[in-house]
Amino acid sequence: MPATPAPTDDTTTPFASVEDVTERFAAHGYLTDRRLATTVFLQSRLDKPVLLEGPAGVGKTELAKTLAAATGRRLLRLQCYEGQDESKALYEWDYGKQLLYTQMLRDKISDITADAPDLASAVERIGGQDSVFFSDRFLAPRPLLDAIRGEQPAVLLIDEVDRADEALEAVLLECLAEFQVSVPEIGTYLAKVPPYVVLTSNNTRDLSAALKRRCLHLFLDYPDAERELAILRSKDTGLPEAAVRRLVDVVRGLRELDLRKSPSISETVDWARTLAVLGVEELDAEVLAETANVVLKYERDMDRALGILPRLVDPNAELPVPHGHHHGHGHHHGHGHDHDHDHDHEHHHDDAPVTSGPAPAASASAAASASAAPAVGSGQGARAFSAITRRKA
Ligand SMILES: Nc1ncnc2c1ncn2[C@@H]1O[C@H](COP(=O)(O)OP(=O)(O)OP(=O)(O)O)[C@@H](O)[C@H]1O
Ligand SMILES: [Mg+2]
Repeated sequence: MPATPAPTDDTTTPFASVEDVTERFAAHGYLTDRRLATTVFLQSRLDKPVLLEGPAGVGKTELAKTLAAATGRRLLRLQCYEGQDESKALYEWDYGKQLLYTQMLRDKISDITADAPDLASAVERIGGQDSVFFSDRFLAPRPLLDAIRGEQPAVLLIDEVDRADEALEAVLLECLAEFQVSVPEIGTYLAKVPPYVVLTSNNTRDLSAALKRRCLHLFLDYPDAERELAILRSKDTGLPEAAVRRLVDVVRGLRELDLRKSPSISETVDWARTLAVLGVEELDAEVLAETANVVLKYERDMDRALGILPRLVDPNAELPVPHGHHHGHGHHHGHGHDHDHDHDHEHHHDDAPVTSGPAPAASASAAASASAAPAVGSGQGARAFSAITRRKA
């Protein structure tokens, strides 16, 4: 074996450093920031599950897929849903196979029961053969057991764990704590190589403290402008560079509005592709308005966005509505979300980063709001995210 394996093709070597994570993820089309890469690196060293929270479309699921690709591991995915029963997560007995075997072995079974004097003793004898039918051979592993029992190291993606019932969450906890699964009829399976476990949550309910405690927690937010730009470039959307830049500013401006569903990274990519297909070279409010349905999926959001689009494209644009009321935050005119909004507003101040300067779109927002805080910040996702639970409450 060569002393220094080429880092690019030997994907199965553990991550050497945080930078190594960044590079290997980038090689698979996923652009990380320092915090994300550090979390992944730590997870791989500490054998701890990672819990990813954040709004839709910020790359939670994709992170797990990329982790598998970058480490050459199998990806096993457990998609959680309400009412899911643990057998779908752990294992099931392969009833069809058991039945098939009993039919094929009919003669053998008759032999066993041949000299049984009565039904009870026949049942007793068949019972003596239980261990044959409840053995490894007839076990149908589901993702959790597969991740632990399988010969090949795995990445286990437990997607949208907030949709699972608390009972299943408890089963997950047990399994994740020890990396083992017990099958009463057989015994306990212990992972030879602990899987990398990635849990994602969209915040439809609060997860238990016990689960959170066991995991490295990472809030995946919308990326900062530079990273979003880099992601867009990496996707070869076909939109000219200047327009891509502008589009990023527009999208970040839209995320500042009080929308029901903020534009995600994937929707930004879709928007860029849409504009490229239409042959757009320079962005103006008109073409953005015509295509805004790519990122805005609610009538109310659309109404809110259309008013501010001209200003987002060109911070100096004249808007039809005077006195800054166009901005869409609606701080002072009730649109039914004022209580949300006050909260949002605070949050926004707390989380606003000091580093990234306000984009043109941001200046528009900032100008419109009474405060001077940078309007577009990394708190965008946190707001969109917590709005989900508030809406449900
Ligand atoms: N950091 C990134 N680098 C490259 N592409 C990204 C990144 N983040 C997100 N994407 C793109 O966004 C798409 C959507 O991401 P993904 O499906 O993982 O979102 P999600 O957070 O799981 O959303 P949901 O909560 O709706 O399931 C990905 O397929 C990918 O193309
Ligand atoms: Mg997802």
